[in-house]
This record gives sequence, C-alpha cells and structure tokens, in this order.
Amino acid sequence: MSRLSHSQRLVRYAVIALTLAALAAAFAWTAGWIHWPGARAVLTPNRLVDAFERSAGKHPGFRRNHAKGICVSGYFDSNGNGAALSRASVFERGRTPLLGRFSAPGGNPAEDDANTTVRSFALRFTMRDGEQWRTGMNSAPVFAVRTPQAVYELQEAMAHDKRTGRPDPARLDAFFAQHPESRSLRDWLAAHAPASAFYNASYYSINAFRFTNARGATRFVRWSVVPDTPYAPYAPYAPKDTADSKSGDPDFLAHSLRVRLQSGPVRWHLMLTPAGAGDPVDDATRAWPAERERHRIDAGTIVIEQAQSQIDGPCRDVNFDPTVLPAGIAPSDDPLLAARAAAYAVSFDRRTREEVHAGVKPR
Ligand code: HEM
Repeated sequence: MSRLSHSQRLVRYAVIALTLAALAAAFAWTAGWIHWPGARAVLTPNRLVDAFERSAGKHPGFRRNHAKGICVSGYFDSNGNGAALSRASVFERGRTPLLGRFSAPGGNPAEDDANTTVRSFALRFTMRDGEQWRTGMNSAPVFAVRTPQAVYELQEAMAHDKRTGRPDPARLDAFFAQHPESRSLRDWLAAHAPASAFYNASYYSINAFRFTNARGATRFVRWSVVPDTPYAPYAPYAPKDTADSKSGDPDFLAHSLRVRLQSGPVRWHLMLTPAGAGDPVDDATRAWPAERERHRIDAGTIVIEQAQSQIDGPCRDVNFDPTVLPAGIAPSDDPLLAARAAAYAVSFDRRTREEVHAGVKPR
C-alpha cells in the first residue's frame, strides 16, 4: 500500500474535520441552537415547550400544558357500531379498561378554576391484545391556530407581563389580528359558557384521524364524547338557579367531580363523526358542517368510576400522546398532530426527570 505524502495527509484530515464540523452544525441547526441574525429560528419540540414554560412559568414535575388535573379510571362499553368505521378491536362489542385525566389548558398547576374557560379530557384505552388508543380532547370543537409555528407564537403572545402577572392584552390583540383563523375558536367561546363541571361537558378530538375498517374502507373521522349529565354553565355565566359549581373554591372542578362520583359512575357517549366530501381534515381551526352530526355513530359508553390525585395517581406518568393509536386508526396530515407527539414527549421527559431528581418513585 502506498504511503500518503504529508500534504495528502493534511487534505485527508481537513476533509474529516470539515465533515465533523458540518455534522455538528447540522445537529445544532436541527436542535434550534443556531440561527442567522434576522432569520426565524427553526421550531423544534424543545423550543415549543420552552415557549410554554415562558408563558406560564416553570413548575417542576408538572405537565408543561394542562398542568392542573385529576386522574380518573373506568371502562368503555363498546356496542359494536364503531366497527363500521374502524377495525380497531376497541370497537368490537365488549368492555375495555380506561385510564384518564381531566384538566384545564395552561401551565400553572395552581391556577384558580374560575380563570379557565376550556375543560379537557384525556383517555387511554388498553385493549385485550395490549394495543392502546390514547387521546386528549378539549371542550371546544376547534383549536385556536392551524400550525405548530402559530402555537409557538401564541404562547409568546400569552407570556405573563411581569408587572400584572397576566398576559398583555395588546400583545394578544396583535396576535389575533395576525391570525384570523383564531376567530372560529374565539367566536365559539363567546357563544358557549364553560361547563360548570368536568362531568357535564362534551369533549372533542378536534384533529381528524384516518379510520380503516375490516373491509379496508377508509374515512376521516373526528370524535367527541357527549355526557349523559345535562350541560350547565359555570356559575358566573349562569342564572343562579342553574349553577352547580361552588363559587369561591379555586378547585371546584376536581372537588365537584369527587362529590359526584360518590353517588355513582359518570357516563359519556363516544360519537364518531365521518368527514363529508371536501371537509377539512388537516385544519383544526375549521369546524365541519353541522349536518355531519346527523351521520355520527354512537360507538358506546365511556364510564368513569373513580378519581385519584394526579400527584401520585395512575395518570401521573402517562403521556396522552394522540398519535398512540391502534391498527384501524391512523393520524391525518394535520400538522398539529406530529407537533403534539413531539412536544408531549419533551414535556413528559422533563417532568419525569424532575420527579426522579426530587426522589419521587416512578409508578
Ligand atoms: C401543536 C399543538 C399543541 C401543543 C404544542 C401542545 C402541547 C401540550 C403539552 C406540552 C402538554 C403536556 C403533555 C405531558 O406532559 O404529558 C399537553 C397536554 C394536553 N393537550 Fe396539548 N398541545 C397542542 C395541541 C392540542 C390540541 C389540538 C388539543 C385538543 C385536541 C390538546 C389537548 C391536550 C390535552 C387534553 C392535554 C392534557 C393531557 C393529559 O391529561 O396528560 N392539545 N399539550
């Protein structure tokens, strides 16, 4: 084998050094550590979660969004109707155990419930074959924005003003002016007072998913869960005689749920709504026409029997990543779904690492 001359060796070392530098730069770029002056930095899952931390403050051990919540458990009784849309075994007639969590959006685990306008419900179905279906739903049928970049900008706009401890209204108004797609959620919230309790709210998947049945037929579907308990508005929005939330209690949502469960389980119907031709299946800010509801399928009953603290309850170390799906349900091309999966993983990683450092035993 011929020996390399001194200059050939130098060239070879230079090529190796340049390759390593290029790899390091690509890694740093992908991680969002470098950006050109004036250019918009690449949005990474870490930067997205950093924005949630900046807007609500850092609360070690807690979820970076929907930080305040309560664990619940129960089961889903499928009536078999959902099998028309999906071959997932959860839709065969029978019972599937459920682990869940009620929460409110926002990163402050000590937020007064009176300040929250949206209720949320996360569920994990564990099927006989070990497959899982995880979902996180909100009590409004649409989301504020369409893209992960806009989610990031919304968090920046919601950052608390140091003087007031609240978001700066002028900054929020400027965000809304730049994001007219947020109008549908704002209009919906203006027309629908928050539910007085976790147990009398409807919850929506918002994102669409691709359902495939045993014959291979595919439809896009959004789902919702509709309570058996009649909706009642939260006290400040309601005539006094219809309000059942205990005013003045900053934790009335969890407290009223525990009280309600003492008199028996709470039920919702799992409703599957197939998309019609031309309905947006990758845009969480746009509702589908109301007439789609006439064709929705009641797939069975969600039954919640027990509540447990989120501090040491079974939902604490669960990541309700909405892309954990059984065969027969797949994500749509909605750009929020991949961003949710990535951001929830970062949040889960940070909070469970903080638990370990604080000496909390994993469940
Ligand atoms: C890109 C968009 C979104 C981002 C970045 C985001 C971010 C987050 C984060 C960081 C968490 C905490 C996860 C954990 O630590 O386990 C979370 C929880 C949650 N999110 Fe989102 N979210 C997004 C969109 C949505 C949408 C569209 C919905 C409603 C359909 C939603 C509903 C929920 C619910 C219900 C939870 C609480 C889950 C639980 O109880 O553990 N999110 N979100």
